Amino acid sequence: MAGNRTFTMIKPDAFEAGNSGAILKMIEEAGFKIVAMKATRLTPELAGKFYAVHSERPFYADLCKYMSSGPIVAAILEKDNAVEDFRTLIGATNPANAAEGTIRKIFAKSIEANAVHGSDSDENAAIEGSFFFNQYERVI
Ligand code: CMP
Repeated sequence: MAGNRTFTMIKPDAFEAGNSGAILKMIEEAGFKIVAMKATRLTPELAGKFYAVHSERPFYADLCKYMSSGPIVAAILEKDNAVEDFRTLIGATNPANAAEGTIRKIFAKSIEANAVHGSDSDENAAIEGSFFFNQYERVI
């Protein structure tokens, strides 16, 4: 059975452009409940740990630099079938391929500065949520 939580980040490009509020509005209107949220900033080292799964990819160094270039919003979201439904809401990684009306189609600037992150599995949603929030911070 699919889990009911996913993890998201509003990335530095979207935060800097002042789009956090509009993105959170789309997330809530799509039926997701925000159960933990904070504005924060990653160091390059922390960005590297978060994206360690991509450490062999050619874009990894740039990704760590970009993800630590400014503030982000990190949040845990709750909804039935959360991981899959959220990935539908945000659209393809490359905004050029994202469907009309998706968050990335509307707000992303490039394949790297693609406005938001969404977990790709229930397992990673739990790991990524725990990266930013301890148990006490996500009790609601
Ligand atoms: P995200 O869904 O957070 O997962 C990995 C991130 O790496 C991705 O979004 C993009 O921000 C970034 N990225 C940069 N280049 C690429 C690429 N060619 N393919 C996939 N992800 C990329």
